[in-house]
Amino acid sequence: MSVRETPQIDSAAGKLGVLLPGLGAVSTTFIAGVEMIRKGLTPPIGSLSQMSRIRLGKRTENRNPLIREFVPLAGLDQLVFGGWDIYEDNCYEAALKAGVLSPEHRETVRPLLESIAPMKAVFEQRYVQRINGPNVKQGKNKRELAEALIQDIADFKAANGCDRCVMVWCGSTEIFQKAGDVHSSLEKFEAGLEASDPDIAPSQIYAYAALKSGVPFANGAPNLTVDTPALQELAKLNKLPIAGKDYKSGQTFMKTLLAPGLKARMLGLSGWFSGNILGNRDGEVLDEPANFKTKEDSKLSALDVIFQPKFYPELYKDYFHKVRIEYYPPRGDNKEGWDNIDIFGWMGYPMQIKVNFLCRDSILAAPLVLDLALFMDLANRAGMSGIQEWLSFYFKSPMAAKEIYPEHDIFIQLMKMKNTLRWMKGEEMITHLGLEYYD
Ligand SMILES: NC(=O)c1ccc[n+]([C@@H]2O[C@H](COP(=O)([O-])OP(=O)(O)OC[C@H]3O[C@@H](n4cnc5c(N)ncnc54)[C@H](O)[C@@H]3O)[C@@H](O)[C@H]2O)c1
Repeated sequence: MSVRETPQIDSAAGKLGVLLPGLGAVSTTFIAGVEMIRKGLTPPIGSLSQMSRIRLGKRTENRNPLIREFVPLAGLDQLVFGGWDIYEDNCYEAALKAGVLSPEHRETVRPLLESIAPMKAVFEQRYVQRINGPNVKQGKNKRELAEALIQDIADFKAANGCDRCVMVWCGSTEIFQKAGDVHSSLEKFEAGLEASDPDIAPSQIYAYAALKSGVPFANGAPNLTVDTPALQELAKLNKLPIAGKDYKSGQTFMKTLLAPGLKARMLGLSGWFSGNILGNRDGEVLDEPANFKTKEDSKLSALDVIFQPKFYPELYKDYFHKVRIEYYPPRGDNKEGWDNIDIFGWMGYPMQIKVNFLCRDSILAAPLVLDLALFMDLANRAGMSGIQEWLSFYFKSPMAAKEIYPEHDIFIQLMKMKNTLRWMKGEEMITHLGLEYYD
């Protein structure tokens, strides 16, 4: 398919399995929310795929359909959920421990949550050091573990009568890792599975199993996972979409709202300090320096791309950027973030911006999981394979083709996403030029 051709999109009919490695705070909040929406008890707040409209054609045409009516997405009633975790808790018990949902909401969706028990996980302590659980697969080598996941996916599909599946990683953040020799080609990766190469992380085994099973894979954590030549090769070979990394939910969401604004007005930046306190299991995992490094790398990447210090040295050269996450159990999932931003204006006079975001991590992340599941399935049915850069909107550390830098500016990301949806349906791109209204 050439880049310009309007794709044929297969029907969205049938059941869509949403497979979630990691049934913790984000996953259970996501599933609970979908069930509440299905019961008509809440609107799908925070979900573009469900609530946002898309303008088509000229402003005078007044065509603004809902995205979910414009492109053929699976409906929420078509979704079935499954997943893996190292703990044996079903989703109700996991939600109870995560402490995100009110007792009233939890009880309302209890039957569904209780019905979802985790499959045995592929886990390696070295990659997530602070937690350990009993619900873990054993195998002779990593190839056997991958095969066991492939079998899980096939069994889940058969048991639930799924026509298609998508996998969205909601597991813990793994330790920091750069792509190595074993990730350089599919052949080396498969040899590495056989030899249980220590550089193959659990998340990569899930991604491999998904892609071998014809299932698109999106990565909600900052782990390397599919950001390697080996798994990108497999995605291309099997014509499957992949996307990542790391949900852009709280502080980085704020950052990518503010930074493009400061840059647009050519205001300078001398420093940006971001502090966080977080008390959920994610916070506990990130308390380990090797795991925090993965998150830090992901959180730091946005500003340089947005400010382009190379082009604007007087404004953005040498700004100081620091990100801290402190594990503070009393707050649970209710993260508090502080941003202190030192900027300067006309004649170099300094000013400060303070942002104090009292957010709820999983409440912000859950609608992103929904949108990613639906859009990855759409991409798959539209024959779009490899990195789905048009879904950068959802990620702190977007994956992009090797020769380009990733786009971080949320407004460019949104425009790109909507233009991609227009392209999928053969509608005109919107450039916002608008001169024709004044001819
Ligand atoms: N909540 C947010 O706003 C947000 C934003 C960006 C990224 N994330 C990332 O999303 C992920 C999930 O966040 P959360 O708050 O739900 O964390 P969580 O700790 O509540 O849940 C993660 C679950 O993954 C399980 N797990 C770990 N390794 C596994 C493996 N190999 N196989 C199966 N299960 C495994 C853990 O046991 C845990 O239950 C984390 O990596 C987090 O960094 C979250």
